[in-house]
Amino acid sequence: MKKELSVSAIKDGTVIDHIPSSATLKVVDILDLKGIRSIISVATNLSSKTMGKKGIIKIGGKDLTKEEVDKIALIAPNATVNIIKDYDVKQKIKVALPSTINKIIKCSNPNCITNNEEVTTKFYVLNKNPLKIRCNYCERNMEKDDISLL
Ligand code: CTP
Ligand code: ZN
Repeated sequence: MKKELSVSAIKDGTVIDHIPSSATLKVVDILDLKGIRSIISVATNLSSKTMGKKGIIKIGGKDLTKEEVDKIALIAPNATVNIIKDYDVKQKIKVALPSTINKIIKCSNPNCITNNEEVTTKFYVLNKNPLKIRCNYCERNMEKDDISLL
């Protein structure tokens, strides 16, 4: 039987592929998609040869910022970001955690200066898997479960 494509191809924009099913809606949450007027498609629990099940997000007419790609790396470390131009995959980016993370994470220490003054958060990635990061300001170490995104 001929397999159908689950989500149609896009002309220009970004396709985020190989997202763990359970993280797909979280990825939607962290992207700022409000102003977009092109088609946005979100599919999850798709069967994948390599992942069992996966999610995919297609956003017409949008390029992701570095900050957005870094955030995706935090919740979907094996995701692929495809830049589509005129129906072709122009670029395929394997998301990767940077060695320092600015802005996007909240420090879990309520006394940290970043939670009390206008100071932008900054963390050093000590270990990628399992994730371990250290706050530049209060030196608190945090693991995956301690992380909330700003
Ligand atoms: N895609 C799309 N619209 C296009 C071109 C590609 O939505 N005009 C999607 C494809 O459906 C796929 C992703 O972008 O989910 C990457 O495309 P491609 O590199 O052609 O697919 P694969 O080779 O399967 O990618 P990978 O090797 O990353 O698994
Ligand atoms: Zn801190």
